[in-house]
Amino acid sequence: MGRDRVMGAERTPLIAGNWKMYKTEAQSEGYIQALLPRVSSVSGVDIAVCVPYTDLRAMVDSARGSRVEVYAQNMHHEPQGAFTGEISALMLSELDVAGVVLGHSERRQLFGETDKALALKVPAALEAGIAPILCVGESEEERDEGETERKLRHQIGEDLAGVRDERLAEVTIAYEPIWAIGTGRVATPEQAQEAIAFVRALVGGRSPAAAEQVRILYGGSVKPDNAAELLELPDVDGALVGGASLEAESFAAIVAAAQS
Ligand code: PGA
Repeated sequence: MGRDRVMGAERTPLIAGNWKMYKTEAQSEGYIQALLPRVSSVSGVDIAVCVPYTDLRAMVDSARGSRVEVYAQNMHHEPQGAFTGEISALMLSELDVAGVVLGHSERRQLFGETDKALALKVPAALEAGIAPILCVGESEEERDEGETERKLRHQIGEDLAGVRDERLAEVTIAYEPIWAIGTGRVATPEQAQEAIAFVRALVGGRSPAAAEQVRILYGGSVKPDNAAELLELPDVDGALVGGASLEAESFAAIVAAAQS
């Protein structure tokens, strides 16, 4: 598997499906019934589906006792307050939601999500017992201008500023180059490994122990036919999957690739 580190850190891969704004509650039910038997014999891989708020309760109920954990796709950092249209970590944890995607590039680009807000959201999720997946990544223009590392340094520095070193390893980071999201244009294994090793080194700048333990996923046009070569990279600890997570069969195939 190529996951053995010099220090012997063993990181369980995570395959997380990001549904975005797809599937009503009724549609989610058919999906989970199709997914569960396909992943019931999988071992050594954590599985999550990140679903719209309106699907959370039904999905948590249907997935209970299975290997599949249910995540939300955003949350507010305050437990409650006058924040019309927002959902808090407290509300998610009462539903037994296991985790939350934070800082997805669509939220940053289309809904004005800021690094300042993420610096509050990531620790708030940890505090509430909700596992955060923090998304980072550069645009095509930033990559072309040689700005990838500067962007990643900025995002990791700002977004994790409120997390104590002892808890850094509890955050999952997803490296998602924006030019690879929903485009079918997957990063090459070299690009993915290089960026993810850089992110790990950034975490290592704060805590070498956390760098060994922290899970870093690749995201951006992961499909059943390219998953294996990405997942075998030494620093890649799983995938955040958009389009290919919408069908139970293709999502299960990516989970299987993480196991082999
Ligand atoms: P994609 O999306 O797999 O459809 O490229 C990834 C993501 O947005 O997390």
